[in-house]
Amino acid sequence: MGMTQQMAEHQANIIDGRHHARKLESRVAAAATDLKTNHGITPTLGVILVEGNPASEIYVRKKRQKAESLGIKSIVKTLPPDTALSAIESQITAWNSDDSIHGILLQLPLPGRQDPYDLLQTIAPAKDVDALHALNAGKLFWQQTRQPMPCTPTGCLILLESAVKKFDGLHAVVVGASPLVGRPMAQLLLQKNCTVSIAHSKTKDLPALTRQADILVVATGNADLIRGDMIKPGATVIDVGINRLADGRITGDVCFEEAERIAGAITPVPGGVGPMTIACLMANTVTAAFHAHALELESLFKSADN
Ligand SMILES: NC(=O)c1ccc[n+]([C@@H]2O[C@H](COP(=O)([O-])OP(=O)(O)OC[C@H]3O[C@@H](n4cnc5c(N)ncnc54)[C@H](OP(=O)(O)O)[C@@H]3O)[C@@H](O)[C@H]2O)c1
Repeated sequence: MGMTQQMAEHQANIIDGRHHARKLESRVAAAATDLKTNHGITPTLGVILVEGNPASEIYVRKKRQKAESLGIKSIVKTLPPDTALSAIESQITAWNSDDSIHGILLQLPLPGRQDPYDLLQTIAPAKDVDALHALNAGKLFWQQTRQPMPCTPTGCLILLESAVKKFDGLHAVVVGASPLVGRPMAQLLLQKNCTVSIAHSKTKDLPALTRQADILVVATGNADLIRGDMIKPGATVIDVGINRLADGRITGDVCFEEAERIAGAITPVPGGVGPMTIACLMANTVTAAFHAHALELESLFKSADN
C-alpha cells in the first residue's frame, strides 16, 4: 500500500463534546439536587441580555434551557439595545447584594462592541460564573482552583484530557489570544506542564508554528483558518471557532475534512466545545451556590473517567 493511500485512510478519533458535557451535567444535576433536598437552596443564575444580537439571544435561550434541565433556576433580565452602561451596572449591583442569586452572567458582546472590562469588574467575584473578573483571571494565573473557572477553556481541557494521556512537555499551540478563550486556555495548558505558544493575528508564519503542535487549540472566528497541512500528524485538535457560513451552516476554524485525515483526535463543530462551555457555566453556578453558603463541594470538573 502506497504512502498516499495510507494517509488517505487515516481517520482521527472524534472527540464527542455532547457525550462529555452530559457526564459533567449529571454531576452538576446531582449537586443541585443535593443543595435543594439537604439544604433547601435552589442554585440560581442571573443573566443580563442586552437585546440586538440574534446570536446572543440564541445562546441565552440555550443556557436557560440547560439550567432548567439541571435543576438550576435562571432569571433573564432583558434590556433594550440602547441601555446605558450605568443601567446595566445597576442591575449587576442589585444582584450582587441579592443572596438568592448565586451566579451573574453578562452576555457578551455589548451593543456597539463596547469594551466590557469596566462592567465586568462590577460583578462580585464570587458570582462571576464566566470567570472574567480580573480577580478570577489573576487567581487562575496563580493556579488557584476555588474560584469560578473560565468556561470555554475548562471545557476544552476536559475534552483534551479525554484524548491525551500525558501532557508533560507537549507543545501546545493556542491560536487566538482573547481574554475569553485564548489567554485562559494557555494558562490551563501551562498548568498541565505543556510548553505553550500563543498565536494571534500578528503571528508570523502561523503554519510553521501550528505544525509543531502536539495539542492545537484554535479560537479565532475565521472559518477554515487551519488547513490539513498545518497540522502535525497525530496531533489533538480542539476547534473552538463558531462561524456561520453564507448558506446558514455552522463551521469551526479548522477545515474538518482535511484535519480528520491528519490529526489523532479532533472536536467537531457543532457538537464539540460548544456543549462543554454551557456545562462548565452550570458547574460554576452550582459551585458558587455551595460556596455562598459555606458548603464544601468536590470539584465538579474532575472525574475518575474523564
Ligand atoms: N464554542 C464555544 O463555546 C465558544 C465560546 C467562545 C467563543 N467561541 C468562538 O471562538 C472564536 C473566538 O472567540 P473569541 O471571543 O476568542 O474572539 P476574539 O475576541 O475576536 O479573539 C480572536 C483572537 O483570534 C486572533 N486572530 C484573528 N484572526 C487571526 C488569524 N487570521 N490568525 C491568527 N489569529 C487570529 C485575534 O488576534 P489579535 O489578538 O491579534 O486580534 C484574537 O486574539 C469565535 O468564533 C467565537 O464565536 C466559541
